Amino acid sequence: MTNDLNPLTDTPIDQYTHNHSFFLSLALQEAWRYQLLTFPNPAVGAAVTDGRGALLSVAAHREAGRAHAEVLAIRDAYIRLSGDGTLAGCDDAFLLHEELLKRAKTLFHDATIYVTLEPCAHVGKTPACADLIAGLGFKRVVIGAEDPNPEAAGGARRLRQAGIEVVTGAESAACEALIEPFVKWQRTGRFVFFKLAQTLNGILDGGTISCETSRRWVHAVRSKIDTLLIGGETVRQDRPLLDARLTGGRAPDVAIFTRRPESIDRTIPLFSVSGRHVTFTRQLPEKGLVMVEGGPGTFFALRDEIDWMVLFVAPFVKEGMGYNAPKKFRLLHLCRSGEDAMLWLGRETRMGNGDRIPPIPNDE
Ligand SMILES: NC(=O)c1ccc[n+]([C@@H]2O[C@H](COP(=O)([O-])OP(=O)(O)OC[C@H]3O[C@@H](n4cnc5c(N)ncnc54)[C@H](OP(=O)(O)O)[C@@H]3O)[C@@H](O)[C@H]2O)c1
Repeated sequence: MTNDLNPLTDTPIDQYTHNHSFFLSLALQEAWRYQLLTFPNPAVGAAVTDGRGALLSVAAHREAGRAHAEVLAIRDAYIRLSGDGTLAGCDDAFLLHEELLKRAKTLFHDATIYVTLEPCAHVGKTPACADLIAGLGFKRVVIGAEDPNPEAAGGARRLRQAGIEVVTGAESAACEALIEPFVKWQRTGRFVFFKLAQTLNGILDGGTISCETSRRWVHAVRSKIDTLLIGGETVRQDRPLLDARLTGGRAPDVAIFTRRPESIDRTIPLFSVSGRHVTFTRQLPEKGLVMVEGGPGTFFALRDEIDWMVLFVAPFVKEGMGYNAPKKFRLLHLCRSGEDAMLWLGRETRMGNGDRIPPIPNDE
């Protein structure tokens, strides 16, 4: 605590609370870069500070099966403090746990680690992060959201048992919003997001709209999803391939949303992707991580079942077909994607941190 006063409220500023929010926000920003790409794991970010509160590292979990955010942040903090760069670039969780426990025995005794999600307490594809943090004897762990996965939960208790100060409550709504896809998918078996690219004036058609960086993200996420549901009219007009060639990943199975399968030309490139399963459907799949690509017709028909939207806004205007901006979606996160703006929108009813952000304008 300091004796500084908040000029707005004339009350003492709790420096710790302030710092906790700041460093968790850095971890959140980093985690959003890998949102959905970590599926079936949640997106998680972490930051490490030294005993004086100086930032040592920020990192995020990037891919299921690879090292968790905490381990990568501790690895980078270790490199910063020790000058030993031999572990740089290594994201093998078992190797990092073993080496860090050997090499960084006393380096973190006055350090704090900030984690958007409670460190895991179970050994699965990777060792338990709580064991690494406890083994290195961190002074403090600041946790944004509790782990909703009963299998992995218990990290906070294990850390407290190891004598580490565990702080919760800071940025909890934002940290809970970050893991909403994971929580929804775990509880119901399904999470649905609608990906859309538009110009500044809301035009959706007339060829490629988003930049190469945005299209690479779409290709990367296509290889993580269970099903790509595409509007029938989009298939008829655009004759797409719908693979993941820009990132060299697996092409997803495709469900074509139409009442008239016979009207879809089977020479359209998406049918010739080897190993792909193509179906025709009148509804969303009941299970899995589902990405919807389509125009206004598909959005309108499925709007009540869409959990999130991922909206790319390209920095130009043109003439063409517009759409009514979706109702009851609120901004969760905004970032750059190359030349585009990338907006993550969540349904209002499922939002955690929406109170700080006004509803997006131009609602239906
Ligand atoms: N900018 C972007 O991100 C983006 C993405 C995709 C598409 N687009 C553009 O959007 C335009 C197409 O948009 P659109 O709105 O006309 O078409 P769309 O969204 O591709 O298609 C609407 C589809 O919904 C189907 N549908 C509606 N209700 C249904 C129900 N109850 N059961 C089954 N199917 C149902 C229709 O079926 P029927 O086939 O039976 O009519 C139709 O195929 C194209 O110009 C395309 O380039 C833009």
